[in-house]
Amino acid sequence: MINYKTLGLSNTREMFRKAMQGGYAIPAYNFNNMEQLQAIIQGCGISKSPVILQVSSGARKYANKTLLRYMAEGAVAMSKELGYNFPIALHLDHGDSFDLCKSCIETGFSSVMIDGSHLPYEKNVETTKKVVEYAHQYDVTVEGELGVLAGIEDDVHAASSVYTHPDQVEDFVKKTNVDSLAISIGTSHGAYKFKPEQCKKNEQGVLVPPELRFDILEEVEKRIPGFPIVLHGASSVMPKYVNMINDCNGKLEDAVGIPEEQLRRAARSAVCKINIDSDGRLAFTAMIRKAFKDNPGEFDPRKYLGPAREELTQLIIYKNEKVLGSAQRA
Ligand code: G3H
Ligand code: 13P
Ligand code: ZN
Repeated sequence: MINYKTLGLSNTREMFRKAMQGGYAIPAYNFNNMEQLQAIIQGCGISKSPVILQVSSGARKYANKTLLRYMAEGAVAMSKELGYNFPIALHLDHGDSFDLCKSCIETGFSSVMIDGSHLPYEKNVETTKKVVEYAHQYDVTVEGELGVLAGIEDDVHAASSVYTHPDQVEDFVKKTNVDSLAISIGTSHGAYKFKPEQCKKNEQGVLVPPELRFDILEEVEKRIPGFPIVLHGASSVMPKYVNMINDCNGKLEDAVGIPEEQLRRAARSAVCKINIDSDGRLAFTAMIRKAFKDNPGEFDPRKYLGPAREELTQLIIYKNEKVLGSAQRA
């Protein structure tokens, strides 16, 4: 059993308390490899932001779970070596079983998500409660989820059942003793969050998606005042990177994300954690494509991964400063 405290990591409790008070959100950036992790540490160090390093089960398989734990430990050491001082949490993203959550807790995670959102309500309560009881013995914080995030195949506007039911949140939080709650208010994962027919075109011909369901968020806040809410699927799918990818022989059509203004509004509310993966992937991929377009003969990974890492660092600084408001909060 490796307790996260021995690795210099923090859980999310204090981060969320401060974010709630200060009206900002903690960034949760996914990573799978060294360059992404370096960019997150540099970006959050430079912008003086607390951070949640987020690892999916797919990332854990990709990177190897033992190496990953050392990477997190190394990330803390790297931040100190560079003279930074900001809290770092290591969080399991979308844990789908008690055993996976337990395994992460045993290998140094300071926070886990148990995603029972696809389960019947009572089963979600039961599974989440079991994870919370185990995690809290080690002071590890737990994120649960109510409501299902729509995929591109779902019509989020017609299928209102995918949204979180505010009537359930108080009962869920009380019964499970969970530390934060992910809710579904119209975001979804990936680069295709809305179908083109759900969007309007602005004067520049850019697709503008329908607004998130802030009314549901407000209802949730009324039922569980001061409780930390999490927003998944919160990438903006920045046109800058989509265009760069398409200009470099890529093929991303009608990719649409969450407008930054809506994320700023969410960050000022009870939303204390905002998950960003796709924007990082897009920035990283755009720069790699550009490097190969500019120099098709390049075969030194540092020459194409280096610029991708630098762009990701800048993207993280931008998000922390201009969207989440977490900069200068460490
Ligand atoms: O919510 C999902 C995250 O973007 C992680 O994606 O399972 O492909 O690593 P992944
Ligand atoms: P995006 O795909 O919008 O970046 O969402 C990531 C996420 O929610 C990870 O859990
Ligand atoms: Zn997610």
